Formats: sequence, structure tokens, C-alpha cells
Amino acid sequence: MSGTDFLPKITIPDIFARKKEGRRISMITAYDYPSAQVADDAGIDIILVGDSLGMVVLGYENTLKVTMEEMIHHTKAAARGRKRALLIGDMPYLSYHTSVEDAVRNAGRFVQEGGAEGVKVEGGRKRVRVIRAILDAEIPVMGHIGLTPQSIHMMGGYKVQGRIFEKAEELVRDAKILEEEGVFSIVLEGIPDELSRIISSELKIPTIGIGAGRYCDGQVLVFHDLLGFNSCYLPKFVRKYANLNDEVKSSIRRFISDVQSGDFPSDNESYSLPRDVAEKLLMKYGVTAAD
Ligand code: KIV
Repeated sequence: MSGTDFLPKITIPDIFARKKEGRRISMITAYDYPSAQVADDAGIDIILVGDSLGMVVLGYENTLKVTMEEMIHHTKAAARGRKRALLIGDMPYLSYHTSVEDAVRNAGRFVQEGGAEGVKVEGGRKRVRVIRAILDAEIPVMGHIGLTPQSIHMMGGYKVQGRIFEKAEELVRDAKILEEEGVFSIVLEGIPDELSRIISSELKIPTIGIGAGRYCDGQVLVFHDLLGFNSCYLPKFVRKYANLNDEVKSSIRRFISDVQSGDFPSDNESYSLPRDVAEKLLMKYGVTAAD
């Protein structure tokens, strides 16, 4: 029995309704069975199998190298660990840029093979045709605007977006266009506080922020950032709730030392033969108790 066994499964309409109810949405990324299981058990609302997988788990320098095969592999694992949370798959770079047909087929793979209940697509008005087609295939879509990591080369780096008036207005319009198309929520990444406040108040669908301040209808963090399970630079918007990297490293160091000293394994951590069998064997092979 786990912590959320008595709670009902979270659905897309539940997430949509949260905004009216004024209940903030919690979302975390997860990329495998244990991370999805622990997040689900803790009571998270949405698990996103983000393409941050590429940087956080696979060690790529950015998210552009992540493939559909990698995303499906990890979505399947996360789906096996999740019981209650809504599971969203992140469409990787080039899985929806080449044609509407490719986009629908790839979105469908997240649902059919991966076990996700919806997909996330980066980009604003440029993505309208693709988002419409995915929705037409009965697949819920989460939008994602602002600092969209798949556009790193166009943006010239991971830079806060919407800082000048015209760009801020463009983002407000993008958010409204995505809402009109029918996305059920929008991730706002790397934009100023005041701008996400305006967008969130202009929309009926919930906004979920990451580096977008306090006025969003929900917040998302990357699993490894939240837990301090990495040693890389973390942007200022990350709140670290643990320092797993240090904890894991010191545990592994203690294991190494116990192995080297012979302290591990102890008698309690070993299996033994029935006494008569042991005595017979030890005698036959000439091994004394001290050996
Ligand atoms: O891939 C990811 O982890 C994301 C979140 C940061 C929203 O897109």
C-alpha cells in the first residue's frame, strides 16, 4: 500500500478544473520507474517525462540530441512506476518539426507505446498546425513557451525571454493562440514574474511555471535539480530540497571502505549452511573455522 492509494487518479479535466478551484498544480520530471514511483507516492499531480532526460540522465550537452526511441523507452519505465499522477511525454526535437503526419505519429507513440496521457510541445504560434492535428487525434497537448530549450541556437543560449515590450506581448499572444487551439495547460519557462502574472490572468487554462515566478497556476522542477542529485550549475530559480549528490557520494565511499576493510558483508548479511552440512564440508576440504 502506498501513500496515494486512496486518492483518485488525476485526469486532464482535473488539471483544467484546478484553476477555477484556485488549487495550485505540482509537476516534476521523472525518467524511470523509481523516480516516477517516488514522485507519485509523494502525491505529485503531474509527472513529465521531459526531454531534459538528455542532459540530466543521458549526459548530452543540450536537449537537441534526444531521440523518440530514448523518450519512449523512458516514458514506458515512468509509466510502470506511476499510479495516480497524470503522465505527460515531452515531444523531442525533430519529432514534430518535419511534418504534421510525423508529429501525430510520434505523439501517438507516447500514448500507445509509452503509456502517457498527453504530450508537451515547445513553441507558440509556429506550432499551431501541429498542435491542432495532435488534438484531432484525441491526444491532449500541454504547450510550452518562453525559454524553449529546443530553440537554444535561435535564442543564442538559455536566456530569460520576453524582457522587451514587443517580445512580452508576443508571448501573451502566443499563450492566447495556444489556449484557443485547445491545449489543456501551458508551461511558462524563463520569463519575468510580471509577464507570467499577465499571461496567467489572461488565460482560463492553467499555467505551470519554471523560472517564471510565483503567479503561475502551478510549478514544475526537474527531479535531479529539486533533489540536488547532480553537481552542475543550477539556475537561481531552482529550490534544492535535498543534497542527494553528497549523500549518495558519502554512502558509496563508506561502502568502498567497508569492502576494503572486510567489514562488509557481516555474518548477518551472509547466508549459512545447516550446521551439520557445514561441518562435513569444512572437514572434507580442510577449512578451519578461523579461515
Ligand atoms: O524537459 C523538461 O524537463 C521540461 C521542463 C523543464 C518543463 O520541459
